[in-house]
Amino acid sequence: MDKVFFGNSGAEANEAAIKMARLHGHKKGIKLPTVLVMDNAFHGRTLATLSASGSRKVQAGFEPLVRGFARGSFNDIQSLETIADNNPNICAVFVEPIQGEGGIRVAADDYLKQLREFCTEKGWLLMLDEVQTGNGRTGKYFYYQHSGIVPDVVTTSKGLGNGVPIGACLAHGEAAELMQPGNHGSTFGGNPLACAAALAAVTTIEEENLCERAMVLGDRLMAGFKAALADVPHVKEIRGKGCMIGIEIDKPCKSLFPAAMTKGLIINVTADSVIRLLPPMVMSDAEADQVVAILAPLIKDFQQD
Ligand SMILES: Cc1ncc(COP(=O)(O)O)c(C=O)c1O
Repeated sequence: MDKVFFGNSGAEANEAAIKMARLHGHKKGIKLPTVLVMDNAFHGRTLATLSASGSRKVQAGFEPLVRGFARGSFNDIQSLETIADNNPNICAVFVEPIQGEGGIRVAADDYLKQLREFCTEKGWLLMLDEVQTGNGRTGKYFYYQHSGIVPDVVTTSKGLGNGVPIGACLAHGEAAELMQPGNHGSTFGGNPLACAAALAAVTTIEEENLCERAMVLGDRLMAGFKAALADVPHVKEIRGKGCMIGIEIDKPCKSLFPAAMTKGLIINVTADSVIRLLPPMVMSDAEADQVVAILAPLIKDFQQD
């Protein structure tokens, strides 16, 4: 990556990406530059990012939404040609490689590669939201490194600050030249305190080989859950990559959250029926086994919300 723009959150990093797409569109002579975003996407809660998100729950009450977004189906390369033919204003695609809030939906093999080829052919920016997948969580520093492509723009936040508010929008090649001095900024963006915390986080991820560790831990958890829940009829699917795991149940299961909490385990339930696990990448093997030992019986015995 060639340039980085700092903000204070994931949504702020994504705002910078959306602004870059608009600059790119105007440069191409497009009057209403439009960013293709996906069903069930989540990009944040500022006005532009909630408009880009694919969830009515996030948008409801905040209309009018920001214009300049078109929606496609995640993982559906076939539909892209039709979308491009029907909307000549599209100048960028913005996508999460694993939809986190959307229920741990993982990009299909080759999806990013095909997206990269399509964007290059059309002159669209390929922009990845790695706010949740970034910083080692899926086994590589960024998820896109699994597929051997390089996006034009990538955003990151959560694991970058490890609790300290920071977000970053990284741009590559021509995309890095779009923002000019004065186009973007924020009082606290890139402040020394947050940057020192982020530098410490990045250094620790590197020095302690936490990308590799995330993969090993994730495989261990995944194997543990698959074995423990093999013949549980209401478990639809167990999926994910590295330390980003979703267990889909065939009915809403939000009550599992307080149930796990009383046993000392913090989980999250997203998209109503997907248990989302984003465990610490510094866990021991024994702690990973404990997670399975606590959670699997709760899932097995789960009846109805
Ligand atoms: C993929 C993705 N993008 C953006 C955001 C928004 O980040 P923030 O809450 O830091 O604004 C999130 C937060 O959950 C996210 O998961």
